[in-house]
Amino acid sequence: MTDFPVLAVDLNGMAGPPGTLYRTLDQLRADHRFFWNDVAQGHWVLTRFADIREAFQTPEVFSNHSIVATDPDPAYRFLPSLTDPPVHMKFRAPLARWFSPHSVERYKPGMRESCRLIIESFVEEGEVEFLAGFADLLPAQTLTRIIDLPISDAPFFVDCANRIRGQVGARGAVSDAVQAMKDIKGYFVEVLSDRRAGPKDPTTDFLSYMLEAQVDGRPFEEEELLDTLMTLAFGSLDTTKTAMSWSTWHLAHHPDDRGRIARDPTLIPSAVEEFLRAYPVVSMARKVTRDVDFHGCPMKRGDMVLLSIQAATRDPEVFDEPDHVRLDRTPNRHIAFGASEHRCLGSHLARAELQIAMEEWHRRIPDYRIAEGAEIRARGPHLEALPLTWR
Ligand code: HEM
Repeated sequence: MTDFPVLAVDLNGMAGPPGTLYRTLDQLRADHRFFWNDVAQGHWVLTRFADIREAFQTPEVFSNHSIVATDPDPAYRFLPSLTDPPVHMKFRAPLARWFSPHSVERYKPGMRESCRLIIESFVEEGEVEFLAGFADLLPAQTLTRIIDLPISDAPFFVDCANRIRGQVGARGAVSDAVQAMKDIKGYFVEVLSDRRAGPKDPTTDFLSYMLEAQVDGRPFEEEELLDTLMTLAFGSLDTTKTAMSWSTWHLAHHPDDRGRIARDPTLIPSAVEEFLRAYPVVSMARKVTRDVDFHGCPMKRGDMVLLSIQAATRDPEVFDEPDHVRLDRTPNRHIAFGASEHRCLGSHLARAELQIAMEEWHRRIPDYRIAEGAEIRARGPHLEALPLTWR
């Protein structure tokens, strides 16, 4: 007999109508402050905002050795993600200036251009499947713009990201995902070698800058550069795509909110925050470094713990009427980008991208709806398809 709740909930694979995952987590939070989730090797799940923030801010107990609850000993090493203080900052600091609010200003015109060109490619048709037609493309084009890669390589990143999510490749999804990771790594090996052979201006070219950058007083090793580039690719593609798809799904469903956004674009920055809060895209895990009683939860060294951001940002202890989307919610101290030293490095970029996408979309397509007869389904935090029409 255990004296703690043991459940088996497949949070990432849970399929159903949009919102199934969020409603399930709302119920789990109401029932349990924490529980042991008996899937794969098993892991703890924390459900309350305050506990999750505390765990994020206690890295000596909750280590970034792994950030995937079902993968306690990853075969990969994302940098700076899978490091703990004080090593973490040594790898993060050199990247920070490329993702500061000031740097993001430089990328805005390019992101806006991408948005406009993507929208123009289908607007006259009066319909699009939003995920493949828009939400896949913008983050991949943005990634190529930041790292100074040919924009024509964006479809390669889209393909890899989709294979990694396991949507493509169906039965062989796991091995296909591993192959997709190898494909991205192989791609980065080549571009790094090209840059070494022909360096560009390190003040404007990210790869040339990284080749010169120092970590702890020495240059990055090749594997460290690759692990950093992999993190940027994995961190930026699916997350931004998923955030865009939820806000667009919501606005397609709620004509009042859509009308407000279309009439008053100054609402967009706060609306983006509210969508990130109400439809949080990712949760993060940590690995426990020593036996600890965490508010009654008997964690053992080596246990994995899911810090469910997706439960935290909808916690009624912190957010009034959390299930209700209020486009102008203030204050809105959500933790969709994390709450630790590992807080999303790309958060300023992601915000700018989401805001520009919403502005450009509603400037050109102010009125739209879900295609007639379409049954929208979600799997975990992902929508499977989002067919829209404005005919
Ligand atoms: C809506 C979009 C996004 C969401 C919701 C999101 C969410 C997150 C979260 C929750 C973390 C914290 C991880 C942890 O605590 O271990 C994180 C870290 C990170 N994100 Fe994002 N992210 C988004 C977009 C991006 C973009 C566009 C980029 C890059 C271009 C990016 C790059 C990173 C990196 C490099 C880290 C690791 C930071 C570190 O370990 O110090 N993310 N992200």
